[in-house]
Amino acid sequence: MIVLGIESSCDETSVAVIKNNILSANLVSSQDFHKNYGGVVPELSSRAHLQIINPLTKEALKKSDIELKDIDLIAATAGPGLIGALLVGLTYAKGLALGLNKPFIGVNHIEGHIFSGFLMQEKPEFPFLCLVVSGGHTLLLLVKDFTEICKLGNTVDDAVGESFDKAAKLLGFGYPGGPKIQSAAQFGDVKKINFPVAELKDKLNFSFSGLKTAVLRYVQAQGGIDKLTEEHKNDIAACFQSAAVNALTKNVKRALEKYEVKSISVVGGVAANNHLKSEMKKIAEKNKKSLIVPDIQFCGDNAAMIAFRGKSLYENGIRDTLSSKPFPALNENHFLEMYS
Ligand code: KG4
Ligand code: ZN
Repeated sequence: MIVLGIESSCDETSVAVIKNNILSANLVSSQDFHKNYGGVVPELSSRAHLQIINPLTKEALKKSDIELKDIDLIAATAGPGLIGALLVGLTYAKGLALGLNKPFIGVNHIEGHIFSGFLMQEKPEFPFLCLVVSGGHTLLLLVKDFTEICKLGNTVDDAVGESFDKAAKLLGFGYPGGPKIQSAAQFGDVKKINFPVAELKDKLNFSFSGLKTAVLRYVQAQGGIDKLTEEHKNDIAACFQSAAVNALTKNVKRALEKYEVKSISVVGGVAANNHLKSEMKKIAEKNKKSLIVPDIQFCGDNAAMIAFRGKSLYENGIRDTLSSKPFPALNENHFLEMYS
């Protein structure tokens, strides 16, 4: 079976091919120009997707040594994401499916991340606890199989990646902030500032807006960003990162006390964070669970995870039609809710 996967939900255009269970191409074209604006500009994103999607698809087919006619299934991200950006990849994929008379499946981007651990040599074992940490989402899930996902916790305000990006902006680090906070944090003293970790008794939810405000107030109290030395910025980055990771691991520990799982998986852009990975490793070892954190190429947005998710849905008898629509937000989709 040959699956073509297409991802265009935000600022990465990606095309992947899974050929007989082997990933033969996973090409990602990143729209770096958004850094000039301090964040993703939706209209510019759509236009850039439109320019690159066809050449990138041709390159992925060439790399996989296949032609369009060889494809058995076409999977594309349907949402959540920027609606104009989603429309480019989704419409392109539907057009290919219609022209080639091949099955099409719209994939939930978050579900792509959830199952991205299956792109690794060591795969998660069902049931597994999944921590989804990206720029737009912070979710804790109990994944029972490919079609049963239970939501245990969600963020009540900012996503963790968003809080990394906002803290980085307050320190003048630019966008995307996550990797920059991580680099600065390695030179900082984690004991210097005590930033708050939200205590939510309600379910296994998360909150990051208090942490962001605490960083803002701290910077203001020092007289603004211009008064901060590089050393001081490194300390703030280290203490912010430590508080953000604590907020995540605290709920993972609580979930492990409550639910019996075989593996733990951390996915999404923030899963690239070294401090989060090392803290999760300690938890997994202590609880004798396998920990699956995808390689960095599968943590950020990529089409390999979309192709894999499309394939797993198709193999579980799920079918989609060309009339399925893109959706901008998670609460408007019918996927996660449909299976839980
Ligand atoms: O999953 P992703 O690529 O896109 C979304 O679907 O949101 O996640 C992007 C997010 C950004 O907020 C970025 O700052 C964050 O992941 N990120 C990191 C790191 N690398 C990327 N956050 C913390 N540490 C990192 N090393
Ligand atoms: Zn993502």
